[in-house]
Amino acid sequence: MKRRQFLTSSSATLLTAGILSSLTTRRALAQGTAPLVRLSMPPLLDTRATGRLSLTAMASSKRFLDGPATATVGFNQDYLGPTILVQNGDLATEVTNTLDEPVSAHWHGLLVPGEHDGGPHLAIAPGATWRPEMRITQDPATVWYHSHIHHRTAEQVYFGLAGVIHVTDGRDDQRGLPSEYGVDDLTLVLQDRRFDSAGGIVYDPSMMDVMHGFAGNRMLVNGQAGATAVVPEGIVRLRLLNGSNARIYTLFFDDTRPMHLVATDGGYLPAPVALEVLRLAPGERAEILVDFATGGAPVLLSDPVQPYGILQFEKDPSLTARITRLPDRLDGAPEDLSGKEVRTRQISLDMGMGGMMMGGGGIAINGRPFDMNRIDFEVALGSVERWHVRSTMVAHPFHVHGVRFRVASENGAPPRPENTGWKDTVLVPGEAEILARFDQPASPETPLMFHCHILEHEDAGMMGQFTVS
Ligand code: C2O
Ligand code: CU
Ligand code: CU
Repeated sequence: MKRRQFLTSSSATLLTAGILSSLTTRRALAQGTAPLVRLSMPPLLDTRATGRLSLTAMASSKRFLDGPATATVGFNQDYLGPTILVQNGDLATEVTNTLDEPVSAHWHGLLVPGEHDGGPHLAIAPGATWRPEMRITQDPATVWYHSHIHHRTAEQVYFGLAGVIHVTDGRDDQRGLPSEYGVDDLTLVLQDRRFDSAGGIVYDPSMMDVMHGFAGNRMLVNGQAGATAVVPEGIVRLRLLNGSNARIYTLFFDDTRPMHLVATDGGYLPAPVALEVLRLAPGERAEILVDFATGGAPVLLSDPVQPYGILQFEKDPSLTARITRLPDRLDGAPEDLSGKEVRTRQISLDMGMGGMMMGGGGIAINGRPFDMNRIDFEVALGSVERWHVRSTMVAHPFHVHGVRFRVASENGAPPRPENTGWKDTVLVPGEAEILARFDQPASPETPLMFHCHILEHEDAGMMGQFTVS
């Protein structure tokens, strides 16, 4: 009884989380010295029966490590928001802002018109409620939502205004895919955060942090530090979201077990693709299948900056392994858009001299920092365009609202496996060409955004906007 109380008391949980990093957890577990802190999923909010979605942005506080509580913000809870399950059809949505500053709810990856997109033009004032009557019409995918107030996105997301959305058609059993939330279908929000020596979370970007993007010194997964994901001894689906402000992960398992990529940002691939490493830039999602039937308790790591511990896994033989073999095929069929484009645009993600001469600290697109009052270009509704995107100084993750796109080339070569399916965010190390059909209308009052998803870059002006009509 005493021991049980110790294990379940939240202060013990926090203490344990504070002392242990993912890597040391493993060693400690092997030596039998540490109680296992089990990773929890965000609460599931299933909208399928009601067709209604209600979110409230709220101020709170949370202790992440064995340190002082940090002031946080969340949707419906203290940090981050629920995982929202939606299907195609009408979704009567309301988002209430109880904070004392404007927020928004941008549906990153949902294919909705500009007036429902939740970008910077759709700020919700303190005390107000925004009620978009949305209609979901898209393939199953893991998408997400976050606040998107110009100059405030980085800080608001950093302190918690983000969450995951599963678009489902209820047919994953037929596909042979794991679908039991939190058991064999795990949602993993990867975020690095910077902790000071007292264990408090800090956000105080210097000029250098703005240039490179604000990086943390500890990993949080679903807002938890040092927790262990407990999985059945079978095939487990990991829905990975890079919800970090700036860090790019190159993920691999310490025992080199393969990760079978089944979905990218916008939906399923035609068949699983086995990867040894998976690169995930801010804003990107990937769904992978991992076989835990054999082998021990692996750790998910990230290279190359340094071996960066992401998440410890442990097997629990008492959990039912519902799926024990990989599906041979999936029904994703990303459309080939090449040759269908009616025009090409050049997009330069500027840092330093190019943008500097135009002011705005050099962070800009095509030499011009973001201006809420300037529409950068107009796209014809229903048309396909080829965008040639070029990064300067560092690799920028490029994101477009209101579309899913194909990557036609990366540095003149065919795209990496991670970029062969439908995407809405792509890391551009040098240059990349993307092809998109613009099916969602957007007026000059609520245009769609395109920007770097390093949030410090976005807030500093590496963003533009377009209409679709
Ligand atoms: Cu993740 Cu403009 O958004
Ligand atoms: Cu977006
Ligand atoms: Cu950038």
